[in-house]
Amino acid sequence: MAEQTSSPEAAPAGDLDEVLVIETSRWQDGPPHELFRELRGRCPVHWSASIPEFPEQDGFWSVTRAEDVHAVSRDWETYSSELGGITALTGAVMPLELVRAMFIGMDPPKHDRLKALFQRGFTPKRIADHEPAIRAIAADTLDRLDGPPAREGCDLVADVAQPIVSRVIGSFMGIPPEDDAAWARLMNASMGAGDRDLNPDGPESVVRREMPEIFARCRELIEARRENPTDDLTSVLVHAEIDGERLSEQEIVMGFVLLLAAGNDSTKATYCSGMRAVMEDERQRELVVEGGEYDGLVEESLRMFPAFAHFRRTATRDAELGGRTIRAGEKVVMWYASSNRDEAVHSDPDRFDVTRRAEHQAFGAGGRHFCLGTALARLELRVMFEETLARHPRIALDGSPAHALSPWINQLKTLPVRFAP
Ligand code: HEM
Repeated sequence: MAEQTSSPEAAPAGDLDEVLVIETSRWQDGPPHELFRELRGRCPVHWSASIPEFPEQDGFWSVTRAEDVHAVSRDWETYSSELGGITALTGAVMPLELVRAMFIGMDPPKHDRLKALFQRGFTPKRIADHEPAIRAIAADTLDRLDGPPAREGCDLVADVAQPIVSRVIGSFMGIPPEDDAAWARLMNASMGAGDRDLNPDGPESVVRREMPEIFARCRELIEARRENPTDDLTSVLVHAEIDGERLSEQEIVMGFVLLLAAGNDSTKATYCSGMRAVMEDERQRELVVEGGEYDGLVEESLRMFPAFAHFRRTATRDAELGGRTIRAGEKVVMWYASSNRDEAVHSDPDRFDVTRRAEHQAFGAGGRHFCLGTALARLELRVMFEETLARHPRIALDGSPAHALSPWINQLKTLPVRFAP
């Protein structure tokens, strides 16, 4: 492992040398877009010497331009998902061993074989078959707010987004509806480990408290499917054979966690940020509600508010990127929150515009780990936006939304609204 406590090379942009990108004070209201703009312009591949809240962690490279993110994403032989974890922190919330039991934390060939088990079920065509069921879940959740007693407003995160996404992914995984809330709590605490509202006891508690509960709950689902195979995704994991071998219990549980976490979190995040943007801009609301720009709303929400601010790789060998030398063993963080606003790709990148038809990197930048759930996420988002705005075209903010404190999950934790101002 290379020495990482000081910048491996002199940075070209003096005043940015000392900047630590993951410093809690920068992230109170979401990603530090102003800093990312500076980095893209003057130091697009930047070295942070440490992570103040986790002094035992190594520093990391920040990759901020779309072109460089694309290069890292596509070169899995140089930039490994398996070597050191998939977020900027290594092992601080979840032990590396558990991260490596999910296929998002594996390199080929095992990654490819595991992912292939699911790919057929996630094509746009197969996912389209689920539209009536997804629409019914969204409609039912929204209709319940009409009462009795009728609600004049709600928290769009807790009362609309969370129950819908939980039931959709829950139905894919074979989770009974009465367990949705418990699974949502476990996923939110694990993924938002650094936010005291999502996880009151701090990051260390995930291994002690949430992980054992996740394993215990999962064991019951696994046992049931060993005896009676079903047609849900949990059954696919339980009965999968890779090179003639069944998955270990740890791999089954963590495969389950990966699908549930991805399904639970990201669509909720994008929906809420997109709804906020529409409520804050009358012209955009009009384009959507009257002009039917729902696909535009989905794509622009994904671009402006990527549900994951970053994913991370670890260099397997020395490499050049953006004029900097990355040493074997160093962390390489791809900031989607920055690359999606790269002015080299998007004009006026901080403006929310549903008529923009832009390619973005919210689902990754086209490499081996490109999101499995793109078709499902797009369908869910469109249905959720349509069902919400059809019922409540004048929906408005009713207080201040709050952002989850995290350099990884990019989402609102509350979004208070009233339906008819
Ligand atoms: C707005 C919604 C979503 C966003 C923005 C999103 C984003 C991402 C990103 C950026 C990655 C790539 C990670 C990397 O480059 O290392 C990823 C991977 C993944 N996503 Fe999504 N995702 C979304 C929804 C979903 C849904 C609904 C599922 C459903 C199960 C899902 C399942 C996965 C899985 C399994 C992977 C790992 C793929 C691999 O390692 O090959 N995602 N997602």
